[in-house]
Amino acid sequence: MTSFDQAADSAAREPLSDYISGVSLLMADVLGGCLPDHWAVPAVLKEAMHYSLEAGGKRMRPLLVIAACEAVGGSREAALPVAAAIEMVHTYSLIHDDLPAMDNDDYRRGKLTNHKVFGEAMAILAGDALLTHAFYSVVQSARRYGVPAEQALSIVEDLAEMAGPRGMVGGQVADMQGEQGLTDLEQLQYIHRHKTGDLIVFSLLAGGRIAGADEAQLQALREFGTYIGLAFQVQDDILDMIGDESKLGKKTGSDVKQHKVTYPYFIGLEASQQEVVRLTEAARAALNGAGFADPSRLLEIADYLMARDH
Ligand code: IPE
Ligand code: IPE
Ligand code: MG
Ligand code: MG
Ligand code: MG
Repeated sequence: MTSFDQAADSAAREPLSDYISGVSLLMADVLGGCLPDHWAVPAVLKEAMHYSLEAGGKRMRPLLVIAACEAVGGSREAALPVAAAIEMVHTYSLIHDDLPAMDNDDYRRGKLTNHKVFGEAMAILAGDALLTHAFYSVVQSARRYGVPAEQALSIVEDLAEMAGPRGMVGGQVADMQGEQGLTDLEQLQYIHRHKTGDLIVFSLLAGGRIAGADEAQLQALREFGTYIGLAFQVQDDILDMIGDESKLGKKTGSDVKQHKVTYPYFIGLEASQQEVVRLTEAARAALNGAGFADPSRLLEIADYLMARDH
């Protein structure tokens, strides 16, 4: 092994915690400067957008965009505008999810929710602005980083599909309509796959597309995302029941208060925990044999998410 190989090898073995904090730092920078300086944007809107964007989320979806891109052999830099875009869509979904008309929550990411600080009208508009600006950001991957226009087009199409009526918004509607005692397991899976799973599937597919993934790789990423997406929301339900508020940065017990149908409500806590393990194993298996340059980071992330406490 040459010294260059050794350096590359040790970079590849950077502990996951360092890899995650590297992505978080990078995202803080990119998100902080996401609005072009020369745009005339009302100061309060800018403030409301950045308040939630920079409140300190885990940046899990940007992490998945970057890890998928790197697993296929693509460059991290080219993935940044799309990583920022999905964090904007996710943040908008949280601002709206917390509104009194929806889950009516007061804390998010360790701070007061957006509407508690800026009022409901501004929170709705900050969400609208983040959603719209996400599409601007995706386009910058082609304009500024040379991602082929055909790939950028597919990423825009996927984002509209997976964040919109057939994706996250559809899942949120089903979540609002779901009632304890009326919803069956299949309906609960629909809610979880869409309200949470779709943005996770999007992140993985987009990372793959930026790196020029082939059909087999995209299919493997889709399957991997579907399993970890469902596992992620089951774990979110578990943590709403038994998690530590100071680690989570949001109040627990929100689901019971809002009569939400959740996995622990439906199949019990222990079976839900087993389901997270089973789904994670299925996710890992989906990456086998799809010909990735290096899937090890994605495999590590799946295990990390399974064990997460926030
Ligand atoms: C919370 O998502 C909402 C769900 C879709 C389960 P995250 O747990 O990723 O929240 P942040 O981004 O770290 O705040
Ligand atoms: C949130 O689900 C899903 C979206 C925001 C799209 P939850 O309502 O369970 O998320 P938390 O628990 O408030 O973070
Ligand atoms: Mg909700
Ligand atoms: Mg909620
Ligand atoms: Mg929840």
